[in-house]
Amino acid sequence: MPQPEGEALAAIRAKRDELRERYVKPLAERGGSPTSGVHHIALICKDVEETIEFYQEFLGFPLVELVENRDYNGSSHFFFDLGAKNLLGFFDFPGHDHPAFSETIGAVQHLALSTTPERFDEIKSKLDEAGIEYLGPDRGVEDSLYIRDPNGVGIEFYREVLGEFEGTKLIN
Ligand SMILES: [Fe+2]
Repeated sequence: MPQPEGEALAAIRAKRDELRERYVKPLAERGGSPTSGVHHIALICKDVEETIEFYQEFLGFPLVELVENRDYNGSSHFFFDLGAKNLLGFFDFPGHDHPAFSETIGAVQHLALSTTPERFDEIKSKLDEAGIEYLGPDRGVEDSLYIRDPNGVGIEFYREVLGEFEGTKLIN
């Protein structure tokens, strides 16, 4: 992807500063959020069993439900426990020829999952043992490790607590 340079880049940065100044609400000035958290995210998978093998059998996220998706014949809807009462959901659409993942408007760029330092190390060892490629932790990004699931979805394991970003508390 060609990236902005020179004056174009400077203009984008100036605009971002302006947006931050105008819109980011300091902790003390906020009302609550209109919702109570992520109940589930629903992604699309190529294959139900392959996705269960990866998330539960390999990474250890418990599969907590697997039901029929009533909106499409033969489609399954299933959920994994991500911790903190958050669910990761998937649908499959058998017989429908979906294109491969592409990074585009509206796509999931990545899903960042909070881990303790201990779990972070365990996951890294597991990936090393299985020979699964990942990005990080390196180049100043010491607390993140990025993989792609069998569907091309980007997953980040982030050694950080919920509500904080790079050591800064963003929400109470
Ligand atoms: Fe991230």
